[in-house]
Order: sequence, then structure tokens, then C-alpha cells
Amino acid sequence: MSATNIVLIGFMGSGKSSVGRTFAKQRQSYFLDTDAMIESSEGRRIDEIFQNDGEEYFRKLEENTVNWLKSNVQSSVISTGGGMLVYCEGLQEVGTIVYLKVPFASIMNRMSPEELKKRPLFKDREKAESIYNERNKIYESRADIVIDADASLEEVGLRLSQAIA
Ligand code: S3P
Repeated sequence: MSATNIVLIGFMGSGKSSVGRTFAKQRQSYFLDTDAMIESSEGRRIDEIFQNDGEEYFRKLEENTVNWLKSNVQSSVISTGGGMLVYCEGLQEVGTIVYLKVPFASIMNRMSPEELKKRPLFKDREKAESIYNERNKIYESRADIVIDADASLEEVGLRLSQAIA
């Protein structure tokens, strides 16, 4: 069902949601954000889910989301939580996987204190950097397309359109 979905992956703060929303508008399709889907169905924020039920529980919710997307969504642009591709099987069956690649230092510069607070895995900067390095290899090896996303929203949107067209 889902071959035409565009699935954006990448580390926290790499711009998946902003790029995805803009790109979906251009294509006149819908935009879905897996973190927002989980938050709305759970009725609480991701940091609360981590705090009250732990990361393992959150990953189960992500797994359910992947399964739901696989059988229910097509022709959409989907932004994923940074760990979804790593922890959940089957994301590649949801659509074309596009990795928005941004160096760790640029991600740190982009993130406001509020945005850092929303993301439990950013509590320890050194640990976040080591997760980044591990994940970067996994993202690169599983992506259908890798985009240098260390640029303005407009520029990344352009690169994405060129890569997908
Ligand atoms: C996570 C990334 C977050 C969110 C959760 C875990 C991760 O999403 O799913 O905090 O493991 O990288 P964003 O990538 O949208 O920040």
C-alpha cells in the first residue's frame, strides 16, 4: 500500500518535522509526525512517557505506529522519531527512506533549551553525541536517499524535491 510515502529519518533536531511539513505542502499531500501521533493517542508528551513508563514502553508504541502506517497510509510525508528506524522493524516497508544528515555540532547550535528539554536522550550531551555517531552509520546504511541537511529549510526542501523527483 505504502510505496509512495516519503519517510524522513535522522537524529533529533535534524529538521525532519519542519522539512516534512513544507515538503508535504509542496506536494499537496498530508504530513504525519510519528512523535505527534504517539503523543495524541497517549494524551501525554514523549518526555512524560519516558519518565513514567520508560524507553522500552515508548519503543513498543513506536513499533505499533510502524505497523499502523504500513497498512493504513499512502502518498504521505512522514517524519519519524530519531530512534524509530533503529529500534523498530519494518519502517523500510512504509516508504522511501530519506536521511536528513546534519552534523552533531550543527544540531547542538540549532536546539533551543526548550527543545532540548523535550528530548530525554539529550539530558547528557556526551551520551547524545555517542548515540549520534552510532546512529549515523545505521541511518546511512538503511536509507534509500541521504540528503545533506545542514542548510536552510528552503535549501533542504529544494534538495529533497530534486532527490525525489
Ligand atoms: C528519540 C527522538 C525523539 C523522540 C524520542 C526518542 C530518539 O524524536 O522520538 O525522544 O531515540 O532519537 P525526534 O527525533 O523527533 O526528536
